Amino acid sequence: MTMRRIAVMTGGGDAPGMNPAIRAVVRTASAAGIEVYGIRQAYSGLLAGDFERLTSRDVSGIIQRGGTFLQTARNKEFMTTQGQKRGLRRLNEHGIEGLVVIGGDGSLRGALALHTLGFPVVGVPGSIDNDIYGTSMSIGVDTALNTILDAIDKLRDTASSHERCFLLEVMGRNSGYLATIGGIMGGAEFVIVPERTMTLEEVGQALEDAYMRGKSHAMGVIAEGATLKINEIAEYLENHEVGFEVRMTVLGHMLRGGSPSGFDRLLATRLGVAATECLLAGEFGVMVGLQGRDVGTVSLEDATTKAHIVSEEYLEMAKMLAK
Ligand code: F6P
Repeated sequence: MTMRRIAVMTGGGDAPGMNPAIRAVVRTASAAGIEVYGIRQAYSGLLAGDFERLTSRDVSGIIQRGGTFLQTARNKEFMTTQGQKRGLRRLNEHGIEGLVVIGGDGSLRGALALHTLGFPVVGVPGSIDNDIYGTSMSIGVDTALNTILDAIDKLRDTASSHERCFLLEVMGRNSGYLATIGGIMGGAEFVIVPERTMTLEEVGQALEDAYMRGKSHAMGVIAEGATLKINEIAEYLENHEVGFEVRMTVLGHMLRGGSPSGFDRLLATRLGVAATECLLAGEFGVMVGLQGRDVGTVSLEDATTKAHIVSEEYLEMAKMLAK
């Protein structure tokens, strides 16, 4: 059965690159003569029937824009079977025959629910956390890393002027990927992540060693989901006089904004094209992802149940290079 009408949505935390991904879906489907509808505000818009026709013209001039022009939302009702069935009814009411869902684990679980109800759906990994199984990089990660790198380089200037230690907290809900890779890229003296426990005493010792080695400043990158919290680390270091004065910066939602990097634009475009092609070829219930240099697929079941963990290699590298 050749599809004639599909829809696309973005869900969960927004990520730079979501707009290029939407653009790729619309342009790929339009090139095949398929109608595309955008669903606003993810599953909330699905339940409300907030669908809008998207043509190739509607996605002009958005490849460089951060955020998602379809907006996004987290919706509790769609976590229930009743809500999912209502969503399916909305799709059928609008004659939608297939759906591309761009988002993180929560959105992909919603996509799996629709697949389980028999609706053709394909997922695209979009989350700055890079915690989605089945893809080495999710949409938005590279742009977020560049934001972290810019922050570290700027903080390093003032840290070295004042012989200070700067603590930088980055997002990642439960994943230390952004902190670990950002720390390696930025040459941090230590990274603190959920995947590895570290005591306040160990942090203090690492900083005192750096000071005694004659370092003019120090940088520590802390994942928001780590056990040790930035305020308690700062207080401990101030009270234990490790040599450096301590200051802290929380990047927070800065990491969700910004114009998508070149890498993210290409990744988002490749994944958006691949997802649409899967849908039109009848390959449903999968998520597209970057596997090596190629785009491949994993089942939505695996993408939403298996973990994408920070590699031991990177964790060791971050620790070793901080000496
Ligand atoms: O999942 C992406 C993410 O940015 C996490 O890193 C962060 O913890 C969370 O979303 C923040 O959620 P919200 O935007 O709802 O505050």
